Amino acid sequence: MKTNSFLVLSLIAVWLFFLLGSVFCNDYKTFNKLVLPSSVSGPQSAAFDRAGEGPYVTVADGRILKWKGPATGFVDFAYTSPNRTKKLCDGTNDLDLGPICGRPLALSFNYKTSDIYITDAFFGLLVVGFNGGLATQLSGGYKYLYGVDVESFTGNVYMTDASLTYDIRNLAQPGLNPDSTGRLLKYDPRTQRVTVLLSALAGVGGPTVSSDRKYVLVPEYVTKKIQRYWLQGPTKGTNDVFMTVFGSPNNVKRAASDGEFWVAVENPPQGLRVNGSAIVLQTVPLTQFLSVTVDVAQEMNDALYVGSSHTDFVGVYTK
Ligand SMILES: *[C@@H]1O[C@H](CO)[C@@H](O)[C@H](O)[C@H]1NC(C)=O
Ligand SMILES: *[C@@H]1O[C@H](CO)[C@@H](O)[C@H](O)[C@H]1NC(C)=O
Repeated sequence: MKTNSFLVLSLIAVWLFFLLGSVFCNDYKTFNKLVLPSSVSGPQSAAFDRAGEGPYVTVADGRILKWKGPATGFVDFAYTSPNRTKKLCDGTNDLDLGPICGRPLALSFNYKTSDIYITDAFFGLLVVGFNGGLATQLSGGYKYLYGVDVESFTGNVYMTDASLTYDIRNLAQPGLNPDSTGRLLKYDPRTQRVTVLLSALAGVGGPTVSSDRKYVLVPEYVTKKIQRYWLQGPTKGTNDVFMTVFGSPNNVKRAASDGEFWVAVENPPQGLRVNGSAIVLQTVPLTQFLSVTVDVAQEMNDALYVGSSHTDFVGVYTK
């Protein structure tokens, strides 16, 4: 009897050891920086094209830059404002120049067409071809368009609008109380129409469509919840809470493994890999990043690319 319970306890201990080990062990041990051009900052996204080239990053001075490898570094790829000049804008951090320079915040590839969809805090939703250059505005008039994800099968574009009342310039104002007027929107490229899927979101982050295209995950920064909006099935058109996170979730991205996601969490900066049952499979501390905020964690070729509005580099964690 005694030996039996000892055996059971030992088995539980071994099982716990492996379970916790897999959740907490950090196998992203190496850290590198992809440094932006001089005085450029704020890479809030890090996307890769169909050929695996990139990352493409959206930066504070209004450009989208493309990483061309360590010898060349980042080069100009695209921009969002028709009135942008390199002389006035390159290297600026001044959000008051946003209406002239633009401030792209997120980008997502349609892998079928190679079109790149961009959300800009001043210019709304835009699209640019794989050769880059000046992007074309598809939908404007937003207060603070934030995240974007293209579902490449239908071409539908899912985007988030952070607020109906404040814009990106208000964020630095002391005492700003993020309200609950965030929305999840859909842009249909066939009809060119935008529809509201969810409203009254609290501090909404960047959305992502599940790899089986059944739902969209939408992080709520303030309530620390990740909402799930159903695109298919009996609950189509409704939402539920996918998971509650201990810190504020900023962006959710599909992971390399089908059905899994990376959630970028702030305070402290961490990357969480979760599966479709909202089980945390891995926690990566992003402390070398030396920043209180992390915007995005994007997995590519066994590396985790981490972007933040507060850095002048993209962090790369490798195993
Ligand atoms: C660009 O500049 C022109 C001339 O100053 C102005 O009329 C136009 O509104 C500006 N466009 C944008 C998108 O700011
Ligand atoms: C998520 O991971 C848990 C634990 O490994 C597993 O039991 C569950 O089936 C997984 N869910 C999905 C959708 O893969």
